[in-house]
Amino acid sequence: MLYNQISIDGYAACGKSTLARELAKRLKYLYIDSGAMYRAMSYYIIQNNIDLNDDRLADLLNSVNIRFQHDKEDPSSALILLNEEDVTLQIRLNEINEIVSQVAAIPMIRRKLVKLQQAYGKTNNVVMDGRDIGTVVFPKAVVKLFVTANQEIRIQRRMEENKSKELPYDYDFIKTNLAERDKIDSTRKDGPLKQAEDAILFDNSHLSRKEQLAMVLALCNCRIIH
Ligand code: DC
Repeated sequence: MLYNQISIDGYAACGKSTLARELAKRLKYLYIDSGAMYRAMSYYIIQNNIDLNDDRLADLLNSVNIRFQHDKEDPSSALILLNEEDVTLQIRLNEINEIVSQVAAIPMIRRKLVKLQQAYGKTNNVVMDGRDIGTVVFPKAVVKLFVTANQEIRIQRRMEENKSKELPYDYDFIKTNLAERDKIDSTRKDGPLKQAEDAILFDNSHLSRKEQLAMVLALCNCRIIH
């Protein structure tokens, strides 16, 4: 059986996850937030005081098991488990935001997580968001989007999101962190953030959630193989 993969890549805080989750819900596809996997890995590294330059990094990370536990009724909703511990809330903390791009730039970590991401797409219809989904993880995705939005709008959206989750939402911290992450993500050697040649550039700065979902659903309905 052939499964459909939909990739949604783009800059930090562009609304990729919101779009991907809502799309998965409507299509009844599995939603995979690949960024959450890099965040869970970062959480493990912090918790275990692991030095990213340690020669034994491969051994130290060997025992890390990251997986999603999807809601049986709703495949767009999932918890993320790190060695079977639910870390869904912890991975959104600022201490994770500060190191996650450095962690995600390590080739060995990317190889491990890309494999897990590809495995989800082999046995499920998936909507996956991230940075390298259309270029590396699913180069044959049936729909590929590269999402972008105006910088001020992205900062405001991240502030609103953090407020709603009762997380710190300092304007300057968010502005600097988003800019730094985008720079590291776009300039790393392995799986950099870039638009796949056949991806559709989608600027959602002036679209509501409802409008962007309707546009992307229309596109998916034209492309998806049933
Ligand atoms: O989507 P996010 O902000 O939760 O992602 C967190 C970090 O993980 C982001 O700064 C870059 C990295 N990431 C990546 O390198 N590749 C992916 N496919 C997804 C995320």
